[in-house]
Amino acid sequence: MIYSQITGTGSCLPDNCVTNKDLEKIVDTSDVWIRERTGIEQRYIAPKGVNTCDLAHGAAIHAMESAGVTTRDIDLIIVATTTADRVFPSTACLLQSRLDIHGCPAFDVQAVCTGFIYALDVADKFIRSGTSKCALIVGAETFSRILNWEDRTTCVLFGDGAGAVVLQANEEPGIYSSHLHADGDYVDYLHVPCGVSNNYQAIIDGTAYVEMKGSEVFKMAVRMMGAVVDEALEANDMVRSDIDWLIPHQANIRILSATAKKLDLPMERVVATVAQHGNTSAASIPLALDTAVRDGRVQPGQTLLLEGFGGGFTWGAVLLRF
Ligand code: ACO
Repeated sequence: MIYSQITGTGSCLPDNCVTNKDLEKIVDTSDVWIRERTGIEQRYIAPKGVNTCDLAHGAAIHAMESAGVTTRDIDLIIVATTTADRVFPSTACLLQSRLDIHGCPAFDVQAVCTGFIYALDVADKFIRSGTSKCALIVGAETFSRILNWEDRTTCVLFGDGAGAVVLQANEEPGIYSSHLHADGDYVDYLHVPCGVSNNYQAIIDGTAYVEMKGSEVFKMAVRMMGAVVDEALEANDMVRSDIDWLIPHQANIRILSATAKKLDLPMERVVATVAQHGNTSAASIPLALDTAVRDGRVQPGQTLLLEGFGGGFTWGAVLLRF
C-alpha cells in the first residue's frame, strides 16, 4: 500500500507589515475593533512588483530545503490560489519555470480559502495511485490586490503570503483521509462578482473587489468546520483527544475558538496565526503549519487535523500523521 506523507514545510511573507494602527489612517476603523472582532493585529501586504508566484517560490524553496529534496525530485506541482499572476498559464507553470523544473504536471486549484486542502487531497491521490512520488503543494495569495481599500468591512481582514509542503510516497501514513465539500448555492455570500467572461471591465478598471456577507459567512464557517472535523475523526475511528493539533484556516480568532469550543478542544491544541498574518486565504493553513513546525510545536509522529472553509462555499479537512 502506498501512502503520502508531508516531509517538509515552508512559508514566505512579503516584507511589508501593516498594523491595525496603519489601517486607522486609511479607513474609519480602530485597532480595538479589529482585535476584538477578528483577533488580527497585523498582516503582510505585497508591494507593487511582488506577485503571488514570488511568494510561492519563496515558500517552495523553504519546503524543499526542509524535506531535503531538490528540484530534480519534484514530479508534481500544485498551486492553490485565487490571485494568480496571469489569467493563464497557471501560477503552477510559472513556479515550475522559476524552479527550473521541466515536464512534470503543474496546475492550479481554485477553491478560495479551502484551496490548500483541495490541493493536498489531489496530490495525495496522485501519490496513492503511484503516478507521483514527490509533490510540491503551495498555497499562495496576494489577496490585497482584490480588496477595496475604502471598504472597512473587508480590507482589514486579509493579508498576503504563501505556505508550501513537500508530499512524498511512503509505506505508512501520512495522510489518513481527506474530506472535501462544496455548496455552490452560497456563491454570492463571499465572492468577487466579476471575471474574464463576466464584467471584465471591472478587472480593467481595478474595481474587482471581494464582497462578503460577514455574519452569514461566520455562522456557516463555524457549523461546517465543526462538522467536517467530526466526519474526519469518524472515518478513522478516532476521537477528539487523538488530535495533537488542529490547524484551521485562519479567518477570525472567534471562528477558531467557536470551532474549538464546539469540538471541546482547548485552544492550546489549536494553531492560531491569524493575529500575525490576517486571513491569507489559500496560504493560511500551510503558513500556520510551517509556523508551528518551525517553532517546535508540531513534532514528527503527531496527529494533525487541517481544515478549511471558503468562498463557494467550499470546506474540507485532511487528517494526517506528521
Ligand atoms: N472597523 C470598525 N467598524 C466596523 C468595521 C471595521 N473594520 N467593519 C465593520 N464595522 C462596523 C459595521 O459597520 C457595523 O456597524 P453598525 O452596527 O453601525 O452597522 C458594526 O461594525 C458591526 O458589524 P458586523 O458586520 O455585525 O460585525 P461582526 O461582529 O459580524 O464582525 C466580521 C464582522 C469580522 C467580518 C465577522 O462577521 C466575520 O469575521 N465574519 C466572517 C468573515 C470571514 O471570516 N470571512 C472569510 C472566511 S472564508 C474566507 O477566508 C474566504
